Amino acid sequence: MDKLKIVANGALNGEIVISGAKNAALPLMCAGLLSSGTLRLKNVPMLADVKTTQKLLQGMGARVLTDNISEFEINGSTVNNTCAPYDLVRTMRASILVLGPTLARFGKAQVSLPGGCAIGARPVDQHLKGLEAMGAEIVIEHGYVKASAPDGKLKGTRIHMDMVTVGGTENLLMAATLAEGTTILENCAVEPEIVDLAECLIKMGAKIQGVGTRTLTIEGVSELHGCEHSVIPDRIEAGTFLCAVAATGGKVLLRNAAPKTMEVVLDKLVQMGAVIEAGSDWISIDMQQRPKAIDLTVDVHPDFPTDMQAQFMAVNAIAEGESQITETIFENRFMHVPELNRMGANISVKGNTAMIVGVDKLSGANVMATDLRASASLIIAALVAEGETVINRIYHLDRGYENIEAKLGGVGAKIERIR
Ligand code: EPZ
Repeated sequence: MDKLKIVANGALNGEIVISGAKNAALPLMCAGLLSSGTLRLKNVPMLADVKTTQKLLQGMGARVLTDNISEFEINGSTVNNTCAPYDLVRTMRASILVLGPTLARFGKAQVSLPGGCAIGARPVDQHLKGLEAMGAEIVIEHGYVKASAPDGKLKGTRIHMDMVTVGGTENLLMAATLAEGTTILENCAVEPEIVDLAECLIKMGAKIQGVGTRTLTIEGVSELHGCEHSVIPDRIEAGTFLCAVAATGGKVLLRNAAPKTMEVVLDKLVQMGAVIEAGSDWISIDMQQRPKAIDLTVDVHPDFPTDMQAQFMAVNAIAEGESQITETIFENRFMHVPELNRMGANISVKGNTAMIVGVDKLSGANVMATDLRASASLIIAALVAEGETVINRIYHLDRGYENIEAKLGGVGAKIERIR
């Protein structure tokens, strides 16, 4: 089982190229099921979850080619199996995103119910409620969602989601593109990854109004064609590296970034004392002081993203002053706290709020990664901890960060992968 060994090595300086967004690439790949044409995706990050999605689509009969660098070609004309099996879905919950496209195009779909994960129960009730509103008949048996559309077509309708859900919005948006009639999706998530998906669907021939707002109006069409689309830059990867510099100090330029998708994160870093500059596709951070502790409350986009909560907690752990971080999206997303405390942090948790008292220094230790973003927070802590840190179970990390040790090593971190 791979581990990361990290020894603090002072300030980070240099340039990092940001990869395409994992949370855009996964739904975009599933959108390839909607058409018999070829969807060409560029700037795709080569991550474990992307490879799992490739396997899932290939298992359904789609033709999926890749250069194993950053490009994919997905052709849905050969899909002959509408089942997404347990052994793949259990490794990646986002597999549920094949449900909407498959049901919409083929009139039936069987997808293993994604279980919960480390950070929460992660139900998909809104996905199912919306599809039923579009006429789908859904049965849950033997751990599978078995869905079928009477006479093979979903019907457009008005759907108001009970809470803002990224995956629910993506599944229902994709399903509605091929439904008969018009669908009005209300209370939508507006994350940049959803805007990216909608823009790609429009290039494939979908008729979507309201992109970027909480109400999407989709006029169903009979079929979609292929297109070429470049995945937006990963705002969470970029934010993670900015937090690393905020903790270690230094000056780093991020290329291929999308500052407009992460304004709240940049604002919070400025409040911590960072000097941030940004252009259309780059962000620079200059941190020449100990970070100042800041309070954070997570919320849906465009507010502070839950996927950046753990990383900011690592910076607050060594910041000047006390702070509070409140997690409002997931019920169990503080599993990095005990591991950070093992490194000398002073963090206590009450309900969904963590209270952090900044300490002058952390000490390196053997720690355990528990989920994707918790792994990233442990790396940030290790970059400033005295002595050596070994992070175990970094398969969590490989799901969402491409070549992270090479990227951090390139700006001066002493980080290596050990077997
Ligand atoms: C997406 O997960 C992201 N994953 C997550 O990123 C991200 O944390 C999350 O959105 C929130 O921004 C991908 O895009 C692949 P949700 P998703 O549906 O779609 C509840 C990372 O680290 N809910 O917006 O699963 C749910 O329990 C990952 O990159 C229901 O109750 O998130 C949660 O509390 C982690 N019923 C909240 O809504 C539903 O039907 C938000 O979930 C759906 C969701």
